[in-house]
Amino acid sequence: GNTKLWGGRFTGSLDPIMTQYNESIYFDRVFYDQDVRGSIAYARANVKTGILTEHEFSEIERGLNAVRKEWADGTFDIKPGVDEDIHTANERRLGEIIGKDIAGKLHTGRSRNDQVATDMRLWLQDQLEKLEGFLVDLLKVMAARAEKEVEAVMPGYTHLQRAQPIRWSHWILMYASFFASDLQRLRELKARVNRSPLGCGALAGNPFNIDRDAMAKELGFDGLIMNSLAGVADRDFVVETLQWGSMLMMHMSRWAEDLIIYSSGEFSFVKLADAYSTGSSLMPQKKNPDSLELLRGKSGRVFGQMAGLMMSVKGIPSTYNKDLQESVEPLLDHVKTVGDSLQIATGVLSTLTILPENMLKSLTPDMLATDLADYLVRKGVPFRETHHISGQVVALAEKQGKPMDQLSFEELQGVDRRFEKNVMEVFDYQKSVEMRSAKGGTSRSAVMEQIEAVKKALSGE
Ligand code: ARG
Repeated sequence: GNTKLWGGRFTGSLDPIMTQYNESIYFDRVFYDQDVRGSIAYARANVKTGILTEHEFSEIERGLNAVRKEWADGTFDIKPGVDEDIHTANERRLGEIIGKDIAGKLHTGRSRNDQVATDMRLWLQDQLEKLEGFLVDLLKVMAARAEKEVEAVMPGYTHLQRAQPIRWSHWILMYASFFASDLQRLRELKARVNRSPLGCGALAGNPFNIDRDAMAKELGFDGLIMNSLAGVADRDFVVETLQWGSMLMMHMSRWAEDLIIYSSGEFSFVKLADAYSTGSSLMPQKKNPDSLELLRGKSGRVFGQMAGLMMSVKGIPSTYNKDLQESVEPLLDHVKTVGDSLQIATGVLSTLTILPENMLKSLTPDMLATDLADYLVRKGVPFRETHHISGQVVALAEKQGKPMDQLSFEELQGVDRRFEKNVMEVFDYQKSVEMRSAKGGTSRSAVMEQIEAVKKALSGE
């Protein structure tokens, strides 16, 4: 006979590979606690509807707590081929513990459709809380390093060509600004995850006038998914989480790529701690930035799952269809991958060493060509003209085979008579960064202001 919970109208048994293809217990078991909490709230609300007596409710509550304990202790015995998912497994076990007469009343007016959506949202809320903590940790390390190492000046790049001197802290704060936006987006996302679909039933709503608000409140939701069809059909909260994490991993990947370049022998601006590097099995001298490469690589996997889920969802007719079960595994993997990545990034950043002498050595006087043009701008010469003049100085230095700052004052005057003695003061990297003191620039005060902004973002201001 068919022992499945929905077995009433079925006679034959499932093709064994169909059983395995259909079941989700081996991954949705992670929702065991949420499933128990949801069932207790549902049972309590069904005392008010008159479906359960107080006694029946307390039996169900006792039984569900026992089921939860078995999962927590690792003693829950999954019945292969019978326990299709976490909902059926928990209900089956509840019946064994308190008897089927009472346990059989729990599912009145409820469906696994509103149940799974409730479980996933409850689980995700906790996970987003954790991810928020990891992201805040990363931003804290960024702010602290930016503050502590504000002296270090390095080349800033466009097109990966040396462009203008910047503070190392300014580079850190570029990513802090990206990650602060990710934090803001996460906080907005939480509000949409944190709404209850419980009581939507299979699709059409609950016929016993169940108090959905009371259940939502008991479970810690901020409100309801109002439309019952939407409650069971909606996986936007999963899609949006994957989109959020994809954006974050996109930032993470660029950050990792920068550090991979900066840690190469040719740059040597930073040195990764041994804790986040690995050696080569063949070349004894190698120290590879595997942590950063994995961050970059895992971002691709995260984007793929995001795109894959959107494709799974886009053609599903209303309301619940089994395709939606395909949202669970990518969500579990996503949350783990993003959480691990954030912790690794924080570890890498808090343990790496910077090599400010090498940063300085990589600065070249031609990176001050714009400053030279700006010098004449301050004397009233139009920038388009000064750009040309400074370009001639660059060409002259190149022709003479010496750095720009080694040209004599007379040679500079030969290019343009408006250069005065103090023009040589332009060739100073510290001065160059300090000149850029307008909001958001690379001067010390502008960098300090940005650090304050990051700290404010952490507190949600
Ligand atoms: N395990 C399912 C899921 O993850 C929930 C069960 C709903 N199944 C059903 N046949 N209505 O989506």
